[in-house]
Amino acid sequence: MPRVFSGIQPTGEPHIGNYFGAMRNYVNLGEEYGKNSLYCVVDLHAITNPAAFDPQRLAQRTFEMAVANFAVGLDPQKVTFFVQSHVPEHQELSWIFTTLTPVGELERMTQYKDKSAQLESVPAGLLMYPALMAADILLYKADTVPVGEDQTQHIELTREIARKFNHAFGETFPEPRAVYNRDALRIPGVDGNGKMGKSKGETSTIGILEPLDSIWQKLRVAPTDPARVRRTDPGDPEKCLIGDYHKLFSDLDTIELVYAGCRTAGIGCIDCKKKLMEGVTAHLTPIQARAEDFKADPDFVRDAIAQGAREARALAQPIMEEVREKVGFLKL
Ligand code: TYM
Repeated sequence: MPRVFSGIQPTGEPHIGNYFGAMRNYVNLGEEYGKNSLYCVVDLHAITNPAAFDPQRLAQRTFEMAVANFAVGLDPQKVTFFVQSHVPEHQELSWIFTTLTPVGELERMTQYKDKSAQLESVPAGLLMYPALMAADILLYKADTVPVGEDQTQHIELTREIARKFNHAFGETFPEPRAVYNRDALRIPGVDGNGKMGKSKGETSTIGILEPLDSIWQKLRVAPTDPARVRRTDPGDPEKCLIGDYHKLFSDLDTIELVYAGCRTAGIGCIDCKKKLMEGVTAHLTPIQARAEDFKADPDFVRDAIAQGAREARALAQPIMEEVREKVGFLKL
């Protein structure tokens, strides 16, 4: 039975990188795979990075991440949606995987290198992060993982861990593959400073639940093609993050209009940004309205998450039982 798994960290507001890169695929695959698509707010991962982790806000952010996913169209009645720490089997399998994973491999992960470089003291859990991620996926024998491009290396390691386990203990796990949204592999941050990222803070992100006037303030001052110094200088929309965002939010006619206008200096950057803002407004207004409805009904959200954990455990427990037996733990 084909199965989908993906996770999202509650380390900050969900942004348009998460949305176009991953969450929209959760919704699409959810339509296809139903309860065999599992989506998880990975709070155990969130606590591995002391720079991005605030215990006062973790529960609230976990709740809001659920709300955001429901608001973009993920229906907890149709898919399996839950919180990682509510299913303790993730940690149990993760421990077994740490015993199969060379430290050298973990040290080579680029996300680990980036995050650990910013810390004075590196927690062991940050290094083990990819083993937990492999456990998330393989605990359900999932074979399909919708993610942004930044997760590629982690999925590759997951495949390696599956191979190692199968080799050591007998054929157990599939080798999962990543699926991407080709148009949103790596959405740039609105400050022009590399990839948009939750942990980079709000100057980098456009939140999907962010007030529209706050989004406009960020777009208004966002850098554009540096070759367009004056209004009369032509630009290259392919070198402009506003040009990138138009591909996500605008219809084809608008894209043609602003791309041609940019190349001929027929349209100024502010007008181009206003056109973008129309698309942003059309996209995010209904999502934000649905989020307000869910926030007004916290019991619905809590019940849905509790039910999701029960469903996830029912899938995980027999697989964990099989793993314990294969590893050779004493069964009573
Ligand atoms: P996280 O929480 O950083 O991001 C959630 C998802 O959003 C994607 N994404 C992006 N896609 C395109 N452009 C961007 N700028 C951008 N920023 C983020 C991410 O690729 C991700 O798909 N390690 C994972 C969480 C995780 C997980 C898992 C994922 C834990 N266990 C098991 C898949 C399967 C992470 O930090 O995602």
